[in-house]
Amino acid sequence: MKVCVIGTGYVGLVTGTTFADLGNEVVCVDKIPEKIQMLNSGKMPIYEPGLEEMVKRNTEEGRLTFTEDLHQGVTGAKVVFIAVGTPPDETGATDLSFVEAAAKEIAAALEDYTIIVNKSTVPVGTGEFVRHVIEANRRRNVPFDVVSNPEFLKEGTAVKDSQNPERIVIGAPNQSVAMALLELYAPLEAPMLITDIASAEMIKYASNSFLATKISFINTIANICEKVGADVTQVAKGMGYDSRIGRDFLMAGLGYGGSCFPKDTLSLRHKAMECGECTDLFDAVIKTNETRVSRFLGRIEDRMVELKDKQIGILGLAFKPNTDDMREAKSVEFIKYLVGKGAKIKAYDPVATENCKKILPDIQYVRNAYETADGSDMLLIVTEWNEFKLLDFEKLRTLLKSPIIFDGRNIWTMDKPKRFGFEYYSIGR
Ligand code: UDX
Repeated sequence: MKVCVIGTGYVGLVTGTTFADLGNEVVCVDKIPEKIQMLNSGKMPIYEPGLEEMVKRNTEEGRLTFTEDLHQGVTGAKVVFIAVGTPPDETGATDLSFVEAAAKEIAAALEDYTIIVNKSTVPVGTGEFVRHVIEANRRRNVPFDVVSNPEFLKEGTAVKDSQNPERIVIGAPNQSVAMALLELYAPLEAPMLITDIASAEMIKYASNSFLATKISFINTIANICEKVGADVTQVAKGMGYDSRIGRDFLMAGLGYGGSCFPKDTLSLRHKAMECGECTDLFDAVIKTNETRVSRFLGRIEDRMVELKDKQIGILGLAFKPNTDDMREAKSVEFIKYLVGKGAKIKAYDPVATENCKKILPDIQYVRNAYETADGSDMLLIVTEWNEFKLLDFEKLRTLLKSPIIFDGRNIWTMDKPKRFGFEYYSIGR
């Protein structure tokens, strides 16, 4: 089947490559010429484990191509996926201008019956909106259908997630359209749910907001644990054994970041407001998340007393491990505040440094954790990369000016750094 994917971000590029790997002819389209040039020369515009090798294999075998020319991509495609960005605007609503622009261009390129699939995370009602845009911009009366097929992949494990999805949700106007799309997914053998379009759109927002709620919940519990002498990691473990609660997404820390949870919770709250419904729950989830960094900074300031001229070593810049994505990364909030207080920053991340330099060009970037510690007054762990978990504490102690570690992600048990003579501050313990 010929498939066209518009947008080569985390979702579009990984989805397109997965469909090519299943034997389809896939054209990925992007407006940004540099991205297409990179992809055509075998370079990845994003870091995602396993992606480069899979792109290489499928381009070499002729199933996967990249172009700036949307018309060429859409021509002959049975299914066209829209996987463009849907950033929040200043009110928290989702900015649909990229979706609209893509829909207009698709409309102008349609020649035969085509299924247009919304893969981007979009508010309820966007399927209808896309249908109107295409209807209004078609050159002839070419038949088409619009489907919502939300994507649940996580950055850092996107390839694995898209090859082994836990579920496939298809919101379609009727059964036969849904079946046509199911054909594309059939080889993945995942549970499939067919719904109306609005429900499929809602499933995505409700899922992400529920996970964000779990995180803000456990972070609230962590705050109380700090006051009463309990250990939030033990509490989360004990809760997680209950299959109704589940173990995942109960890691207390600095809160959620990234391209999805912050924007999707805002968007769902905005939708609730639009409908005149109560937003108290979303307000609390969002507010709890927004205060994670300032709370930890308060503890850092209490300990360090004066931040001016202190050198702070920061480990981890990306919003989470195994990605170079800096969107809504907690490191930025820390660094801006600390620099504002006159502290000097030495920072290290295994892959996100180049992206961080674009946001924070004036701090010092180093090549590993030990260089970060060298001469620093304290270490601050912001992202829980695996390589930090096995650091040599003896060596860190000799390099740091004072043996103080603030760990925003609870990467060690309480006793480990203490055994090596560190003052160790973490979350909810
Ligand atoms: C998320 C959803 O998981 C995915 O299904 C959707 O398609 C896109 O949004 P992603 O943003 O890539 O994926 O990352 P995820 O692993 O879900 O983590 C999101 C944020 O939550 C990160 O900042 C992470 O550090 C934080 N988090 C996650 C916690 O603070 N505690 C946890 O227990 C889990």
